[in-house]
Amino acid sequence: MTTACLRCCEESCGTCYPITEVRAQCAACGSLLDVRYDWSGFDAEKLKQTWAARKTSRDPKDLSGVWRFRELIPFLPPEAPIVTLQEGNTPLLDAPRAATYAGLEALAFKHQGFNPTGSFKDNGMTTGVSQAVALDRKLVACVSTGNTSASLAAFAAYGGLRAVIFIPAGQIAAGKLAQALEYGALTIQVQANFDGTWQLVFHLVEESGLYLLNSVNPFRVEGQKTIVVEMLEQLGWEPPDWIVLPGGNLGNCSAFGKGLREMHQLGLIQRMPRLAVIQAEGAAPLYHLLQQAARENRPAREIGLQAIENPQTLATAIKIGAPASWKKTLRELAATQGVCEIVNEQEIADAKAVLGQSGIGCEPASAASLAGARKLVAQKVIRPKDRVVAVLTGNLLKDPTYTLAYHEGTLTYPREGQQLRIEPRFGNQPVSVPPDAAQIQRLLARESK
Ligand code: F0G
Repeated sequence: MTTACLRCCEESCGTCYPITEVRAQCAACGSLLDVRYDWSGFDAEKLKQTWAARKTSRDPKDLSGVWRFRELIPFLPPEAPIVTLQEGNTPLLDAPRAATYAGLEALAFKHQGFNPTGSFKDNGMTTGVSQAVALDRKLVACVSTGNTSASLAAFAAYGGLRAVIFIPAGQIAAGKLAQALEYGALTIQVQANFDGTWQLVFHLVEESGLYLLNSVNPFRVEGQKTIVVEMLEQLGWEPPDWIVLPGGNLGNCSAFGKGLREMHQLGLIQRMPRLAVIQAEGAAPLYHLLQQAARENRPAREIGLQAIENPQTLATAIKIGAPASWKKTLRELAATQGVCEIVNEQEIADAKAVLGQSGIGCEPASAASLAGARKLVAQKVIRPKDRVVAVLTGNLLKDPTYTLAYHEGTLTYPREGQQLRIEPRFGNQPVSVPPDAAQIQRLLARESK
């Protein structure tokens, strides 16, 4: 029997709390908490077989791409109910065209946009909402740039809980707001950006009896951890050289690192892949911290994260100036010899269109992973022969306005008081014709040449 507890992520503190304690931060030092397991009786090979065998089962726990790996997330009592929408189970897609674009021999995408609400948040929401149910919490809440709110709203509704979501007014994609409303969440638009809304809500939730389900919630991280477990299973347990992912609040990077460390510790993998976190140029506090640490030859932790006051990027999912999980992410970058890189708005938009042309759509923040892989190859950090998996965190349909504007050549972004235009380098304009069969035929004739 494996036992679980909550433990402060700050090594020098390490204060522990019971697994049923409701808290996001350590009472002693204010750092975030990890779920820690005292693993016992682990047989890695046997587990791999068990997980494979569960693929033919019809048990809801086995149909979930998260709970199928439940031995790695054993924080609930065995009889506890789970709230699952059959999340996870996302494909690993080879993409030769995108590989060529990045300068790689091969490139695969783990596409989390195939999840029930269209993003990787579902992997973490099934575990977070299940813990809320186990703790008998009726009101669950989050602050969100879009995907978290859609995911929380759906899982809360499915589990019979009430969701309250706080979103920065006018700064979330229409597709996401629509989901939150449709799933019946109380949706509060705050006249502030993500960071401002977060400051406000983080201190308010406990007094209001809300159970906070942002990625500071360690049970969210447990579910998101399984993204890399499923990825490694799809790779026949042969680790890639690199896993590239976008970074906003940095919860996902923390989750990936924890998952990789645990798989390594338990003998499920023999080698650690390197993590590459990609931030948008105008919202890159982690990148700037690491650059400063390198320049001054000082540990990044000692310098501390400097929040970006007014983060700017059209990739709203990663438009975050003060990421909550920066300390955890530093730990995971250290454990995986990871790197952090930035990409600009044009690079994100082009990478997204290249992915689209490959038949693999995604939303803007996700495309940062391809743009980032390309940049790291150009810098010779990633070698052309390296085995690389890039993670697409969200679905194309999240942000149709952005996509349409790119193809129509009207996409612009703010910079130093100006609106700059993004070139539709891979644009695909709709063709307008009069109701004239001959003209349409001439058009089609050109296509078949
Ligand atoms: N990609 C997508 C599609 C996202 O929605 C997010 C985060 C990220 C990447 C960044 O992940 O925060 O774990 O580093 N979206 C959050 C939200 C902030 O509210 O939906 P992270």
